[in-house]
Amino acid sequence: MHYFQYKNSELYAEDVPIRKIAEKVGTPLYIYSYRTLLRHFKAFEDAFDSYPHIVCFALKANSNRAILRLFAKEGSGADVVSGGELFIALKAGISAKKTVYAGVGKTEAEISYALKSRILMFNVESSDELQLINKIANRLKTKAPVALRINPDIDTKTHPYISTGLKKHKFGIPIKQALEHYRLANSLPNIRILGIHKHIGSQITTVAPFVDAVKKILLLADSLRRHGIEIKYLNIGGGLGIPYNDEVPPYPKDLARAICPLLKTSNFTLILEPGRAIVGNAGILVTKVLYLKKGVGKEFVIVDAGMNDLMRPSLYEAYHKILPVLKRNRSKIFADIAGPICESGDFLAKDREIKRPLQGELIAVMSAGAYGFSMSSNYNSRPRVAEVLVKGKDFFIIREREQYKDLIRGIKIPGFLK
Ligand code: LLP
Repeated sequence: MHYFQYKNSELYAEDVPIRKIAEKVGTPLYIYSYRTLLRHFKAFEDAFDSYPHIVCFALKANSNRAILRLFAKEGSGADVVSGGELFIALKAGISAKKTVYAGVGKTEAEISYALKSRILMFNVESSDELQLINKIANRLKTKAPVALRINPDIDTKTHPYISTGLKKHKFGIPIKQALEHYRLANSLPNIRILGIHKHIGSQITTVAPFVDAVKKILLLADSLRRHGIEIKYLNIGGGLGIPYNDEVPPYPKDLARAICPLLKTSNFTLILEPGRAIVGNAGILVTKVLYLKKGVGKEFVIVDAGMNDLMRPSLYEAYHKILPVLKRNRSKIFADIAGPICESGDFLAKDREIKRPLQGELIAVMSAGAYGFSMSSNYNSRPRVAEVLVKGKDFFIIREREQYKDLIRGIKIPGFLK
């Protein structure tokens, strides 16, 4: 459910015509709906209302500080995977006490920054990392709170690039080695064990893999208790899918209904790390048709947004709905919607049946709020695009479009070339 709807054949974000925003801000641009963001965040809060929990929004999906500010005001925590994400989360006003830090390659500087910031806990991915965190905590005369990220070996049947919970993946500690890792953690003087973490993948469209994984980590929690190791926090990661096309993924309340009964009377605090399910359908990418081009057997609609602005179609062959900003009566064509980047892999949609757009017309790439801007780059030396937040009848620029001068910021020409 989102608030990008047609009114009199014109696409609106809440109560503002997309056309009006594009005229003011230019294209390409990302547009987010405040009401949709809020609704999706609250859907998680409400679903897990009956069980102690913290929703830690996964910044990797979208780390615009204004959007994070919105979640911070609703009491959100953060799931971060780099010092940069931690910095932005704190700057947005998210409490360090509700911030968890995951990632297989945390550096010494990042660990030290997170310890000094007093985050809730690290999600630790290896024994080497445990030893390093212990050493740094010792140097800082503190105890590092940790969960161990366990890889439960569960097949989520999502795209291989976004599935993480199988034993062949680099993530987490294989469940068979969990006990020995917890024993190691328990023996380290500057480590305090707080939890178990698992995240099995992204864009998961059934509850079954979540249930299987939670069952496995509950057994692990039992076995740890028998070994004198108490677990307070159960972090079930993110991964709930969204409808990009005709998928029918479960709602947060379906996930809660499947998971909470498994926890019965246990007194864990649950941590959730949703990203996509909150922001995915709350954002769109608006782009302008530059040229129409007839190829052999198909047509090309060349638009001003490329794979550097939205990488998902090129990287994962991900499907995003393409909608005209103005609905008109027109013929259908089969076309690739392609960008200006010098790569054959630069497309937003492939072999898609769409209504023939006109040159100069605006089209909307739907469900682009998650892993859209956050994965964008300056490839082909293209300034990164603007982001706008719509609230009711108003809209706000929440990120200025980069300028050419931003493309040479920090570049130094050595003396011998001057
Ligand atoms: N927690 C951990 C440890 C994660 O690795 C991820 C995502 C999340 C939470 C949030 O998952 P979500 O609720 O958003 O599914 N770039 C890809 C998605 C990569 C996901 C990486 N990890 C895409 O565009 O589909």
